[in-house]
Amino acid sequence: MSDPNAANAPRILLVDDEPSIRQLLSYRLKREGFDVLLAENGREAIALLEAGGVDLLVSDIRMPDMNGVEVLRAAKRLDPDILGIMITAYASKETSVEALRLGASNYVEKGGPEFPAAVVEVVRKALEQRQLRQERRQLQQENLLLKRTLGTSHQFCNIIGRSDAMVAVFRLIETVASTTSTILVTGDSGTGKELVARAIHFNSPRRDRPFVALNCGALPETLLESELFGHVRGAFTGAAVNKKGLIEVAERGTVFLDEIAEMTPMVQVKLLRVLQDRRFRRLGGLDEIEADIRIIAATNQDLSKMVAESRFREDLFYRINVIPIHLPPLRDRKEDIPLLADHFLARYRDQMGKRVTGISGEALSLLERYRWPGNIRELENVIERAVALEQTPVILPDSLSPVVRGGAQKPGSSIDLPESGFHLEEHIQQIERGYITEALRRAGGVQSKAADILGMSFRSFRYYAKKYEIT
Ligand SMILES: Nc1ncnc2c1ncn2[C@@H]1O[C@H](COP(=O)(O)OP(=O)(O)OP(=O)(O)O)[C@@H](O)[C@H]1O
Ligand SMILES: [Mg+2]
Repeated sequence: MSDPNAANAPRILLVDDEPSIRQLLSYRLKREGFDVLLAENGREAIALLEAGGVDLLVSDIRMPDMNGVEVLRAAKRLDPDILGIMITAYASKETSVEALRLGASNYVEKGGPEFPAAVVEVVRKALEQRQLRQERRQLQQENLLLKRTLGTSHQFCNIIGRSDAMVAVFRLIETVASTTSTILVTGDSGTGKELVARAIHFNSPRRDRPFVALNCGALPETLLESELFGHVRGAFTGAAVNKKGLIEVAERGTVFLDEIAEMTPMVQVKLLRVLQDRRFRRLGGLDEIEADIRIIAATNQDLSKMVAESRFREDLFYRINVIPIHLPPLRDRKEDIPLLADHFLARYRDQMGKRVTGISGEALSLLERYRWPGNIRELENVIERAVALEQTPVILPDSLSPVVRGGAQKPGSSIDLPESGFHLEEHIQQIERGYITEALRRAGGVQSKAADILGMSFRSFRYYAKKYEIT
């Protein structure tokens, strides 16, 4: 610390109305290698504090315009981590105590025998203690991260998997979590895209800030826009008050844009702008607002194909697809099935207070042979149902849903085609209509939920609902 101009030398702001004190103290502090700024009153001091970069404030208590305690209060408001040391000619107990209560590290009497050496001493100690505090905090965070990562070898946060594909996903999450790069998570419905998005957020330096999720397929265009960007009063009918959008709510956190393929062209343009310029405007607003957010998008569609068909903006695709993470369907990582089944078994057994301890070999091989079109979400449902139904300590094939049992049969064996033939399309339409109606009923009329139940996008659902005139 011999070079006072070193860029990383702690910066001290010295405030005193007496020129001789300023001169004396700044000489001593500079000699110790500190970077010293001077102010002769509170107003000047606050202007310098507002410019930022001050590590420690040394202030006289009694000054003509505002006293040192007020300067400290303003400083703490601007930067809660700033250190403060008071110097005073008259050791007034009250003000000194008040200063300590506000977070001053210490105070020194001007008339004391150790002045000014005592000031240098107190400054050095305060900076050292802060350094230690910061190191400890960092160490704690690193430990926490390590524990989360190494919980068990087949688990990352609450993502289970031991297949090569999943282990590679764990590594990738670990690597990208510390960055702010935009991430695109792809995979079929129920493969764990949202789980991955959350794991990235909670392993990132943003973990203490919000994680907000928005399903782009679930809202009509204008609503989606105002959810994302917020609006000002009067921006549209019904906009009675100013409202923050999720991008503002997630400031310094993560925004998870689910079903990004459903985003309409207009919203795509606006999102592109946020990604390019890191700024946006509220709906109807004039002010540009800075956006310090990380975006994680997810889709079960093939976005590059959509780009080729001009259904998704190419420039936005490249901005989003900075780091792609693909989750393969469950049938392509069969070695994860026993692990996941056990995991869900334990969860639902505890939840339901049942005594089921395992899965019979026969049931397990049925699980391994099934194709799992609904992926892990479907496996979870099958296990939940089995635990609920099971009367014996192990899950037997009978407790598995018929589709899982049937799915393992030889292909073709369950097809019952009448000798006389029949109208296939009509038959399929009848089935479709039945499922759409039933899903809508079960979702309490909420279309996006019904779409989820059927593993389809909101758009597709609307298409079918319209086709069969179901409302
Ligand atoms: N590897 C995994 N380990 C444990 N649980 C998982 C795993 N993958 C998914 N799940 C669970 O399966 C369910 C579905 O996962 P998630 O919602 O993340 O899927 P998704 O890919 O976002 O599906 P969708 O495309 O339908 O939105 C959740 O309950 C999740 O906790
Ligand atoms: Mg999802």
